[in-house]
Amino acid sequence: MSVSALPIVKDLKREESLARQYKAVRAHTESLCETLETEDYVVSSMPDVSPTKWHLAHTSWFFETFVLTERDSSYVPLNDRYAFLFNSYYVQAGERHCRAQRGLVTRPTVEEVYEYRRYVDQHMLALLEKVGHDPVITLGLHHEQQHQELLLTDIKHVMWTNPLRPAFDARRVESASRRLDDEWSEVPEGIHRIGFDGDGFAFDNERPPHRVFVDRFRIANHLVTNRQYLNFVEDGGYRKPELWLAAGWAIVKDEQRRAPIYWEKNESRWEEFTFAGMSELDPDIPVRHVSYFEADAYARWAGHRLPTEPEWEIAARTFPEIPDLYGSRWQWTQSAYVAYPGYSPPSGAIGEYNGKWMSDQWVLRGSSVATPPGHARVTYRNFFPSDTRWQFTGIRLASQ
Ligand SMILES: [Fe+2]
Repeated sequence: MSVSALPIVKDLKREESLARQYKAVRAHTESLCETLETEDYVVSSMPDVSPTKWHLAHTSWFFETFVLTERDSSYVPLNDRYAFLFNSYYVQAGERHCRAQRGLVTRPTVEEVYEYRRYVDQHMLALLEKVGHDPVITLGLHHEQQHQELLLTDIKHVMWTNPLRPAFDARRVESASRRLDDEWSEVPEGIHRIGFDGDGFAFDNERPPHRVFVDRFRIANHLVTNRQYLNFVEDGGYRKPELWLAAGWAIVKDEQRRAPIYWEKNESRWEEFTFAGMSELDPDIPVRHVSYFEADAYARWAGHRLPTEPEWEIAARTFPEIPDLYGSRWQWTQSAYVAYPGYSPPSGAIGEYNGKWMSDQWVLRGSSVATPPGHARVTYRNFFPSDTRWQFTGIRLASQ
């Protein structure tokens, strides 16, 4: 499958021109597909998962809809039916295809989707010759980076759903994290400032910065490892209702869950599905793909709790040397995803980006192995519902 010949620069560097940032981000998306066969691009394995082909097209639709159509009066879409197929959830941008049926769409072909990307790139690069700074283009780049992560987490689930359990990329193997001598870092009580007040890019939901009071707390210096989580599993963690929130216990019971989504026990040996295929469970790396329910139950079993969102940010600001704050696992907090005091979403369809999702979800902080380098920051707010398991989610404990 053809991939872009554009140079691959994995980090969004502020000092680079917008055109260079654009080329780098678009090329990085396509580089993630290098190991895929054409058939891999088309499948969706559950409603939360989008086909790779859809990610490639939807990120282009974003630039087409919110930049080219708005900024360039001579722009003509390559195919005006694509807007129906590749709009995700922007009600103000028009009617859209059913999310759960994205995996049933065989046309446009993968090659035609790459042609769509080339077409949008050609017009965007012409526009970028005339534009020095544009907040919507910058938003589009950060949006595409978010889809780079989704592309990886989605294709992992697609491969896992296949009984052959194929490897996505055998080069993607994790090693154990750096460890500090102390298990905990302690933060004294006080009033702290959280939220984004810099002059670079941040999503609207990271603002406004505001003050919070926290009691003294301790935060774990290390993420919970597979070894620690296996102790919970083998102690009957999935058979003890007293450890679980009611909604989580109902799922565990109904689906007879016994371990995280990608774990399998073969005779006495635990294995895990990874990007490199099935492999023996590595006890020393952080546990991954646990839901909020699992993280909360583990914390209760361990005699601790999950951090709140302000606690996580204050700890990350106070102790930036704590391992795995970024680049390993998204870390569940026990804070609901709601607006910061004084928040109001931007006007128009772009205002749908973050604001309308502020119900029934939990905040996760940090970033994961699937997050593109340079994308996250200390104020970054990720959010997912309680039973989300296909993202690279892990556990960092807190305690009084
Ligand atoms: Fe999107």
